Amino acid sequence: MKKENAEPQKLKIALYGVGSIGASIARLLLKKKGLEIVCAIDSAPNKVGRDLSDVIGTGEPLGIIVSNAPSEVLPATKPDVAVHATSSFLKNVFSQITELVEHGVNVISTCEELSYPHLSHRELAADLDRLAKKHGVTVLATGINPGFLMDTLPIVLTGLCQEVKQIHVERVMDAAKRRIPFQKKIGAGLTLEEFKEKMETGQITGHVGLEQSVAMIADALGWRLQRIEVGEVEPVIAETPVESEAVKVTRGNVAGLSQSARGVMNGKPVITLVFKAYIGAKEEYDSITIDGTPSIHEKISPCVHGDLGTAAIIVNSIPKVINAEPGLKTMKDLPIPSAVLEDMNRYLKR
Ligand SMILES: NC(=O)c1ccc[n+]([C@@H]2O[C@H](COP(=O)([O-])OP(=O)(O)OC[C@H]3O[C@@H](n4cnc5c(N)ncnc54)[C@H](OP(=O)(O)O)[C@@H]3O)[C@@H](O)[C@H]2O)c1
Repeated sequence: MKKENAEPQKLKIALYGVGSIGASIARLLLKKKGLEIVCAIDSAPNKVGRDLSDVIGTGEPLGIIVSNAPSEVLPATKPDVAVHATSSFLKNVFSQITELVEHGVNVISTCEELSYPHLSHRELAADLDRLAKKHGVTVLATGINPGFLMDTLPIVLTGLCQEVKQIHVERVMDAAKRRIPFQKKIGAGLTLEEFKEKMETGQITGHVGLEQSVAMIADALGWRLQRIEVGEVEPVIAETPVESEAVKVTRGNVAGLSQSARGVMNGKPVITLVFKAYIGAKEEYDSITIDGTPSIHEKISPCVHGDLGTAAIIVNSIPKVINAEPGLKTMKDLPIPSAVLEDMNRYLKR
C-alpha cells in the first residue's frame, strides 16, 4: 500500500549528447526539483570519462561519468526519460533513439528531422511509432525551431481563425548571440568560395526543419499540399565588418545564411517560412502573419533566444511526454506547451 506522506520518486533522466545544447539542458535540469540526472552519454573522446559537472561547467562533481556505452549505462541506471541532442538528421539518430526505446526509455530529442517526420521519412516514422508502442514509451522531437516558433505557435494562432487563406512566418536572428557550433553551422566568417565549397561537400546544410514545419502546419489545418518547396541556402554577405565573440567577418565575407520554404496548394503558396541567421542582424524578430478571418499579425521582437528557448522547451516537455500515450508524437499531438516552474512531480499524472 502507498504510504500517505511518502516522498514521490524522483524522475530519472538520461542525457544523450552533451554538446552545447545538451549541456545547457543539463544545467537547467540541475535547477529543477523532483528529478535526477542518472547518466550521461556522448561519443566525443574529449568528454567521455569526465565528470558531467566538468563537461557542462558547473561546480561540485556530480558523480556522473560521461559514457560512450549506452548499452551499459541504460540497463544500469534505468532512466524514465532521455533528453537527446546529437544530430539534426533522422538517419544519424535513428539507431540511438531505437536503442533508448528498446531499453524502455521515453525520448525527447532536438533532432530537427524527427520533429515532424511523417512526410519526409514516412517509413522510419512508422517503424519508430510501432517500436515505441511495443515498448510502452513516447518519443517526441522539439526545440525552438522546428518545434515551436515556426510551426506550433502559428498553428495555435489559427485557433482564433474562422478561415485561413495563407500563413507567412519569418525568423530573423543575430547569430552572434547563439552558440558557437551554430555560428559555424551557418558558415559565419567564411569567404563566399569557402561557403560554396562547404555547401557542395555537405558541411553546411542550411537550416534543417523548414520542410517539417510546413508539413506540421499543413497537417494541423487538414491542408493537402501539392508539394513543399525548400529554397536554396543563400549566403548573407556582410556589408560592413561584423563579429561575435568567436567569429570575425570581414566586409564581403559570409555573415550567415537565409533560407525559405513554401507549402503549395491549388498552385498557390499557402504556407511560407523564411529563416535568416547571420552575425550583425540589426532587427531580430519572430513574426507570424495569418491571412484569414480574422487576419492575425503577431511579432515577437527581439526574436526568442534559440538556445535558451530550446533547453526550456525540452525540459518543459518532460511531463507532457511522460503523461502521453505511447508512440511517436509531435508537438501538435501533445497538450499546449507550458513551463515547468516547480517540482517536476507536480506536473506528472502518475
Ligand atoms: N530543434 C531545434 O530547435 C534545435 C535547437 C538547437 C539544436 N538543435 C539540434 O540539436 C543537435 C545538438 O546541437 P549542439 O549544438 O549541442 O551540437 P554539438 O555541440 O555538436 O553536440 C552534439 C554532441 O553529441 C555528440 N554525439 C554525436 N553523435 C553521437 C552519438 N552517436 N552518440 C553519442 N554522442 C554523440 C557529439 O560528439 P562529437 O562532437 O564527437 O560528434 C557532441 O558532443 C544539433 O543537431 C542541433 O542542430 C535543434
